[in-house]
Amino acid sequence: MSNNVNKKYTSQELNAMSNDELARLGTELDEVTVAYRKERFPIANDPAEKRAVNIVGVWFLLGIIFAVAFLGVYLFWPWHYKGLGESGVWVYSLYTPLLGVTMGLSILSMGFGAVQYVKKFIPEEISVQRRHDGPSEEVDRRTLVALLNDSWQTSTLGRRKVLMGLMGTGAVLAGLTIIAPLGGMVKNPWKPKAGGLDVQGDGTLWTTGWTLTKEGTKVYLGRDTGALAEKHHGHYTTQGISRLVRMRPEDLAAGGMETVFPLPEEDVNDGDLYESTREVYEAHMHSIHGPRNSVMLIRLRSADASRAVQRQGQEDFHYGDYYAYSKICTHIGCPTSLYEAQTNRILCPCHQSQFDALHYAKPVFGPAARALPQLPITVDEEGYLIAAGDFVEPVGPAFWERRS
Ligand code: FES
Repeated sequence: MSNNVNKKYTSQELNAMSNDELARLGTELDEVTVAYRKERFPIANDPAEKRAVNIVGVWFLLGIIFAVAFLGVYLFWPWHYKGLGESGVWVYSLYTPLLGVTMGLSILSMGFGAVQYVKKFIPEEISVQRRHDGPSEEVDRRTLVALLNDSWQTSTLGRRKVLMGLMGTGAVLAGLTIIAPLGGMVKNPWKPKAGGLDVQGDGTLWTTGWTLTKEGTKVYLGRDTGALAEKHHGHYTTQGISRLVRMRPEDLAAGGMETVFPLPEEDVNDGDLYESTREVYEAHMHSIHGPRNSVMLIRLRSADASRAVQRQGQEDFHYGDYYAYSKICTHIGCPTSLYEAQTNRILCPCHQSQFDALHYAKPVFGPAARALPQLPITVDEEGYLIAAGDFVEPVGPAFWERRS
């Protein structure tokens, strides 16, 4: 600091100064020149000041109302999934937009209120300061506190209790609109779903859509066609559209890989079982979105297949040159989407774990420590690929109760 202001004040001298004097001293010490300063309402009981209070108050009040509306929608609006054509789908479809609109308006109103407050009540001021380096001395620290006090007083917030209450309440509620939805992510991963198994398993970490094979249902390896809803007579319909179809071994070329999903026999709507009026699309989408459902079907090249090493107890899990491994990385659960046919390596793009498809997908590089679980597969009497059973271990990353 290079100014000539006396900084050698004792604690007693500093204690004797008023806040105004300390604040003025602070600006001098910091080489701040106040070039222009004007109070917004220099005359007491100015009616314009009352109007300003009302305007700012309305904005904060709106912030509170929208935040309460958000919490009301979040807690009480019907949010359980409804499919196309089900009653209540229209009300359900409003859930997310309403959350977005009320949260946005709450934060926006609080923001407008804060901007209006600054424009209407904080004194207009232009100050210029020269830069300086080095650690702060006691006098600087004390004067900084005084300046902050001064700012608090000139903001007039201290005597505007109603506005301060509205601003504080609004800020807390607007903050809640961000924090409260996190509560919805807290789930019990061990709680079986009421109603039992479906293509997403029962919701626990131990099951997948393939677990249905245990219940005596034939589960095909479903190929994702990417089909979308079609427009008929002015509205979209999924009737007769199959997102998943059955596969035969010859559908995959040697050295190829395809992601497949569980397709229970009651949801099949292709080939000889096709009916144009059937509605299976939604069930197929649930299968595709099941968090532990995706499986990589790999067809090894014949020369490579002869070198394949089977895991003990899983010698019959493959069907000829076809191997099916869970796509969920055993590190922390990314999709291991890359298969390199030349080296027979499966690569997880998240942290570069590599798995050897010729050695029951055991990890050969990177942080993953367990092999990708293998799905037993075979072909049914009609020549379609099906699961010959469920995975014999949980898929995905480790969790506490796992033994391996
Ligand atoms: S999640 Fe696959 S390597 Fe980390």
